[in-house]
Amino acid sequence: MTTASTSVDAPLDPIAIRADFPIFQRDFNGRRMAYLDSASTSLKPRRVIEAVTGYDSRYTANVHRGIYTTGEEATAAYEAARVKAARFINARDSHEIVFLRNATEGINLVAYSWGRRNIRAADTIVLTELEHHANLVPWQLLSQEKDADLEFVAIDEQGRLNQESFRVLLRTRPKLVAFTHVSNGLGTINPVREMVAMAHEAGALVLVDGAQAVPHGPVDVQELGCDFYVFSGHKVLGPTGSGVLWARRELLDAMPPFMGGGEMIREVHLRRTTFNDVPWKFEAGTPAISAAIGLGAALDYLSDIGMERLRAHERALTEYALEVLPREVPDIRILGPRSAEERAGIITFNLPDIHPHDVATLLDRDAVAIRAGHHCTQPLHERLGETATARASFNVYSGRDDIDRLAAGLGKVQAIFQRPGATETTREPAAAVTG
Ligand code: ALA
Repeated sequence: MTTASTSVDAPLDPIAIRADFPIFQRDFNGRRMAYLDSASTSLKPRRVIEAVTGYDSRYTANVHRGIYTTGEEATAAYEAARVKAARFINARDSHEIVFLRNATEGINLVAYSWGRRNIRAADTIVLTELEHHANLVPWQLLSQEKDADLEFVAIDEQGRLNQESFRVLLRTRPKLVAFTHVSNGLGTINPVREMVAMAHEAGALVLVDGAQAVPHGPVDVQELGCDFYVFSGHKVLGPTGSGVLWARRELLDAMPPFMGGGEMIREVHLRRTTFNDVPWKFEAGTPAISAAIGLGAALDYLSDIGMERLRAHERALTEYALEVLPREVPDIRILGPRSAEERAGIITFNLPDIHPHDVATLLDRDAVAIRAGHHCTQPLHERLGETATARASFNVYSGRDDIDRLAAGLGKVQAIFQRPGATETTREPAAAVTG
């Protein structure tokens, strides 16, 4: 996914697309839900739901084991999903696709397997101030164990990575650079190709967290040139419990296993084991078979729509939101890059003197679903000087009508808080809201 403009034939029609998503038939106090929390998880089209229930109802069997009809069908469907995932991100070889539960598990796998073998005391790992917790905590654990250093690329006032800060950090000759393709906190699209080239020149490997990029536009791992790339299935219209780690084949071949058990082995004796080939070496135990098959169906669905069209749709929607919200909602403060070219379909904002949790709770009365809190990016919020923010995020079914409902809802929230005494209801973030 790049910031470059894309030309596409027919604009995407979110209202027609909603017919594919059964959840939109549900009645929320007489209204369709305006779902604006796709960065948290996406809704699921019927094709994905049917792929999952198809496995559960017609050909349930373990994979790579049963030499009978349903066993072979299950194995074929699971491995076909791997080929679909490889095509979707243009991996050279489907053996470079490891199925996992989510992007978080992919980053942990790299930190445990590659990291424990390759990172030593006083080595440097470069991260950024934009990262969500999944691309911070595994590296904190590794650096504490190995006595390695973590350094962070600074962001500017619009939440873009400061490339000069990156250049300076590369002079430390880091072993690894790990950063997000698209910020879940601010929507910033990072210049991945350029940063990968710079990191490689400095001798570092690069892990890119694609959890918020793969759902919103075309991604080509060969063009990006990175070494590791991860994404979650549940944010690309697929089931929860599905995720992908892509890595260059030679890296995966050289990495030791992450978890031990069935499936990842070739031969097991009481005191020694030889391991399976990649990717199965990293898929210990019975995998999440129906989730992977559902992910394959989601990628088919998105491929049929066209990722260039989806990117164009979200860019137009982001432009619309950046124009309408400041006009209709007095004093709204929108964070992140000011241009829709530089951001994916994520609008993070705050209203003066109204806690985002109050905003989200009141919007919910009108069936408008947004996320409020720190969006699993507490350090980013500290850096921005915000305890919490509100966030609206889009996907294929999001339309201008959703943004109009958000704007109208925010107007109502402001009206409620302008009543005498109303601000007394403002409260601190609920302890249960984490990420
Ligand atoms: N990291 C996910 C989000 O941005 C859960 O909401």
